[in-house]
Amino acid sequence: MRGLIELLSLISDGQYHSGESLGQHLNISRASIWKRIQVLQSMGFEIYSIRGKGYRLVDAIELLDKQKILSNIGSTETLASLEVLSEIDSTNAYMLSKAGQISTPAACLSESQTAGRGRRGKPWVSPFGSNIYLSLLWTAHGGLQSLDGLSLMIGVSIAKTLSGLECPDVQLKWPNDIYANKKKLGGVLVELTGNWMDQAHVVIGIGLNQRITQEQRQHIEQPIVDLAELGWSGSRNELAGKLINQLLLDLRAFEEKGFSMFQDDWNARNVYEGCSVEVLQPRSRLLGECQGVNERGELLLKTEQGILKVHSGELSLRPISREV
Ligand code: BTN
Repeated sequence: MRGLIELLSLISDGQYHSGESLGQHLNISRASIWKRIQVLQSMGFEIYSIRGKGYRLVDAIELLDKQKILSNIGSTETLASLEVLSEIDSTNAYMLSKAGQISTPAACLSESQTAGRGRRGKPWVSPFGSNIYLSLLWTAHGGLQSLDGLSLMIGVSIAKTLSGLECPDVQLKWPNDIYANKKKLGGVLVELTGNWMDQAHVVIGIGLNQRITQEQRQHIEQPIVDLAELGWSGSRNELAGKLINQLLLDLRAFEEKGFSMFQDDWNARNVYEGCSVEVLQPRSRLLGECQGVNERGELLLKTEQGILKVHSGELSLRPISREV
């Protein structure tokens, strides 16, 4: 519906705005404003409406702003391009479609995704205006092996960015989940295209929960946490910019030295360190004590047969002890 996002941005400050002034701004009638307010409410935005005062968004939101994001990318590593979209099926799918046609590294953020995708074919619930949906298109030289540990390194970059913005206690779950309070705060989905032996186009997709309503949580099949619950109420544009900045710096280091220089940082944030865990593979299940990761990003599992190294892929890890 035309003007929906403009309307949301006009009331995003959490103050009252009359139907008349909103109508004037958007050049539509008060009745049309009311219809759009109802659509926004059906999308999960809580909006008060008081006769004589107008409309107020209960929780003020900060819409993505390209200039503000760019001003937070102070990196010596340059970003070739940044796109900020209102809606897209999936930022990963979008960037994959651009691979080979645009200069890299290139980033894309969207306010919402209609077909956001997670690992193992799961959907990624992506409501409008309150979370981070970011994809970075990057070119990797040096074949598939040079990508060992990439998604773990991305987890470290995200955790470092959040710590730098004073969001405490972010942990990592092998291979690519971001955790806090023992619940999922975000995830990483790395997808590849191109000639893997020589030059691979890599799309690094990151989803981070900033604010997810109770209603939206019903569509997510695991316990999740958002930044608001963790007491973090910083700027989404600053978070997006600082995250891109950290990714650019860390990707450069990763390209030169591989995962080994991120190994200690990852292990220091391992949510299941020392816990009994099971690794679910497509046709089998491994049990053992989680002992972090090695310099290639493989999970080290202490079993009766000795230390097993588990390579990531379509695997998932979960604790056996209920305490973790
Ligand atoms: C996971 O399953 O934990 C990975 C989730 C990755 C979600 C992000 S949101 C931005 C990017 N676009 C997508 O469609 N998926 C990734």
